[in-house]
Amino acid sequence: MTDLFSPLRIGRLDLPNRILMSAMTRTRATPDNVPTELMAEYFAQRAGAGLIVTDCTAVSPQGRGVIRGPGIWRDDQIAGWRRVTDRVHAAGGRIFCQIWHCGRVAHPDMRDGEIPVAPSAIPAKGDFFLPSGRVDFPVPRELGIEELSGIVADFAQATRNARAAEFDGVELHGANGYLHDQFLQDGSNKRTDAYGGSAENRVRLMVETTRAMIDAWDAAHCGVRLSPSSYLYGVDDSDKRATFGAVIDQLNALGIAYLTLLEPNAKDAEKGVQIDHVAETFRSRVTVPLIVNTGFDKAKGDAAIVEGKADAVAFGVPYIANPDLVERLRRDAPLNKPDPSTFYGEGAKGYTDYPALTEAQPA
Ligand SMILES: Cc1cc2nc3c(=O)[nH]c(=O)nc-3n(C[C@H](O)[C@H](O)[C@H](O)COP(=O)(O)O)c2cc1C
Repeated sequence: MTDLFSPLRIGRLDLPNRILMSAMTRTRATPDNVPTELMAEYFAQRAGAGLIVTDCTAVSPQGRGVIRGPGIWRDDQIAGWRRVTDRVHAAGGRIFCQIWHCGRVAHPDMRDGEIPVAPSAIPAKGDFFLPSGRVDFPVPRELGIEELSGIVADFAQATRNARAAEFDGVELHGANGYLHDQFLQDGSNKRTDAYGGSAENRVRLMVETTRAMIDAWDAAHCGVRLSPSSYLYGVDDSDKRATFGAVIDQLNALGIAYLTLLEPNAKDAEKGVQIDHVAETFRSRVTVPLIVNTGFDKAKGDAAIVEGKADAVAFGVPYIANPDLVERLRRDAPLNKPDPSTFYGEGAKGYTDYPALTEAQPA
């Protein structure tokens, strides 16, 4: 029987299991966005995952939206990532870099005064935290159509840089209300040019970016993540089934290494989601490996695979607190409890100091 512990081929990689580590921002890079030794340690501890996906990683200074988040546009960042991939590979793991542009989800005070950009001049909703405290999102600058090819080129370059850093592949962060999601959904995209209006136009940036990534490496090394039921940072669409159906069909046709779909979380559910069961809704139109995420445990994950709803399961928060999550799930061992106060902290506390199971602990 195929379950969470069965191998899976993704692109040209053989994963030993179907328990993936979901991309998570942990703010442990340097202030100028260079990956650190501590990050190498953290990821190496989690090398038992079928596949690790890194923190969202900015493709350009314009794409930065996290203080102490990593980037991949400069040589020192590539060198920092090379140390991470070396450690993960030495520990027997596999790792993709999640490449990302924040779009409107940023603040000028954390990016040398540069105003965030977006498909339309509509601010994100929700909280943004600077060292001085919570602030409102500013009104972003609407991107000119002539700027979009430059953004696509940044993703192609980031893909080449990830290859140079010896990653096993790249994942386009198309989810959670960031630039590509802002273009996709009609609540944040009011453009009247070839990138706005119809679903066909709104998916254009995502498809052009994915194509450019594939041209820069190949389809076997490029995955994409989407969150059809997320309302993060105020993204919304008048017809999510149609919009996400359109983009999923096009990404599927490109033969990407995998597609990750996020199920709605409790906060999304409060808003009254349009699509309750995302993976099930889109399953029949996806022929590439389908990864599902959000709120899974061993029982739910096994069920998703056994029932054929997904090919693998990505775990987020459980991976923060359990570096040896695969082993713990295999042995039905108790899980460490995550401490949310250190999710976005600095230093080793709550990052690399969660204990692994020891021989002394009963299985
Ligand atoms: C601290 C934290 C940081 C996150 N950062 C990212 C990110 O950088 N990129 C991303 O795609 N998702 C990010 N997420 C979402 C997770 O990848 C995942 O989708 C979410 O935690 C739901 O999975 P879970 O229920 O297994 O935790 C983050 C989640 C957490 C808790």
